[in-house]
Amino acid sequence: MKYSFPQLNLIMAWLWIVLGFASGFLLGLNFHRENWLGGYASFKRRLYRLGHISFFGLGTVNLLLFLTVRTFAVVGPGAQVASWAFIVGAITMPVCCFVTAHCPKARTFFAVPVVSLILGGCFLLWEIIKL
Ligand code: HEM
Repeated sequence: MKYSFPQLNLIMAWLWIVLGFASGFLLGLNFHRENWLGGYASFKRRLYRLGHISFFGLGTVNLLLFLTVRTFAVVGPGAQVASWAFIVGAITMPVCCFVTAHCPKARTFFAVPVVSLILGGCFLLWEIIKL
């Protein structure tokens, strides 16, 4: 099986939405426990929630890239860079959330998804403006 741009983003989108459901299921097994992971407002619990939500948010970003590219025939090099940047951002964001929940010093690694997603957004915007 060989997947290419932008089909990889479509696969990523639905895989991440499914992982969002699965992570919600795991949170749901414990969320009734008042002090689970230090309580609802604890740093650890907030990062777990952020990881859960990021699956949906970044799955949707990848779906939007797929739909934009296919609907408006965006084929320039910027769109390919954006495609990879959104994949890197989608993978590294929940990883950073779950790792930082247990190792707060790892928060600097959030720079990877943040920079990647900003760059991806800018490259795609640039291609769209050129249309
Ligand atoms: C199978 C589906 C889902 C399950 C089982 C699920 C489960 C959960 C659970 C148990 C929590 C609470 C976590 C905690 O107590 O710390 C939560 C929080 C949250 N979920 Fe989901 N979820 C699902 C789908 C979704 C979807 C589709 C979205 C949005 C696109 C979403 C967005 C959120 C948000 C924003 C929070 C934080 C709410 C807050 O802090 O007030 N979830 N989810």
